[in-house]
Amino acid sequence: MTRWLLVVLAVVLFAGGLFGYDQGVISGALAGVEQTFSLSLLMVQAVTSWVTLGALVGSLVAGELGDRLGRKRAILIAGGLFTLGAAIQWIAPSVLVLVAGRFIIGAGVGIAAVSAPLYASELAPANIRGRFVSAYQLAITMGIFLAYLVNGQLSASANWRLMLGLAAVPGVALFSIAFIAPESPRWLMTRNRREEAAKETTKIQPDIDVNAQLAAIDSAIKQDSHKASWAEIFSPKWRRPLLIALGLAVFQQITGINAIIYYANQIFAAAGFSTEVSRATVTLWAIGGVNVLSTFIAIAFIDKVGRRLLLLVGLIGMGVSLAVVGTAFHFIAPTSGAVAGSGPTTAGIVTVIALIVFITSFAFSLGPVVWTVINEIFPVQIRGRGVALATAVNWGSAFLVSQFFLSLINLLGSAWTFWLMAAVCVVGWIWIYLRVPETRGLSLERIQDMWAVTT
Ligand code: BGC
Repeated sequence: MTRWLLVVLAVVLFAGGLFGYDQGVISGALAGVEQTFSLSLLMVQAVTSWVTLGALVGSLVAGELGDRLGRKRAILIAGGLFTLGAAIQWIAPSVLVLVAGRFIIGAGVGIAAVSAPLYASELAPANIRGRFVSAYQLAITMGIFLAYLVNGQLSASANWRLMLGLAAVPGVALFSIAFIAPESPRWLMTRNRREEAAKETTKIQPDIDVNAQLAAIDSAIKQDSHKASWAEIFSPKWRRPLLIALGLAVFQQITGINAIIYYANQIFAAAGFSTEVSRATVTLWAIGGVNVLSTFIAIAFIDKVGRRLLLLVGLIGMGVSLAVVGTAFHFIAPTSGAVAGSGPTTAGIVTVIALIVFITSFAFSLGPVVWTVINEIFPVQIRGRGVALATAVNWGSAFLVSQFFLSLINLLGSAWTFWLMAAVCVVGWIWIYLRVPETRGLSLERIQDMWAVTT
């Protein structure tokens, strides 16, 4: 590891960490926001979900930004948007300004979500590339954990402005570190800036033969010089990998992960955790801590047992635990919320245990595996746009879930909402079983051939 490679790793970790922080922080901030602005349910959900809408837009423009301005500038823009969005949330005088701040920070999240893994995969030497990209998912979970930690510290004072505004600190850090980080030699070569590419390559990997490296990049660029248009992405030739990527992107979200991450506080309140401090603690450890730790299971096993097995086993764990949460809620009076002074009910404790199983199952399966598969199944001509589209669809689905989860609970009741999510896991399981092939250990070229044979 050279010093510069550590800088690259730091960029990836800060980008993922910020993504996670924004995912997690709203869970603790929401109660205070609700009080300050006396919000309707629709607005509570808008405050939560507009980050994902911003991220959808950000991920769609990220590819174009990265190609035109360079990977480094795209990440600088993401860092700038994070900081701006956080500052706006900090001072927001009205809920509309707050929602605008949420959207801006979301745009930063979307740009970073596409640019950082791309940057990592272009700069990390081949033998540690996989780990660099996994480090990104790990950083997301650590960001969520950190957000829950901050929520816990500030929960007594319900200081939501500080919770949301603190994202400006790592935002500035990301901006500063990206400022000194090397530009991707691969991108510089596409701009015919060979000398700079040589300089950056020597910086990152001083021991390698720079000319050979640049020649390899050059031939790879020539090979994939034909970049598919948006229309070509939808041609029947690529339908299978496209449907697999989009299907996985959708199932990762509609099985409910972010409903739990965003609304953990409300769920635990309904499950009988009556004080803000007890809710913050159980959210921190049962959701945040378990999510970080279980991601290591995926890192250890993804290249050994394969993607399919992790996905199929994980979905069983998720489905069963959601069904149990539904059943537990069935036994909690619908309006119970928190009864002051009383501890969590038996059903509340069952809910906590089931949610731990849910988060564990997600963190070793759909969490990291979906991103791995999305990044490896597209043929090179459509990879950039395919990944961007799948990322955008992932955020679109996250938006729908976060925008309508509480409404769904109002409409169907908690029990039926969780049972519905369990049913979605069953559908997802069947679809993955029938449609998603194993890609473990295959070179990207072999994966590409798979589509040619079967279409
Ligand atoms: C998902 C996010 C989710 C996170 C939780 C990621 O893979 O894309 O939506 O919040 O995992 O760890």
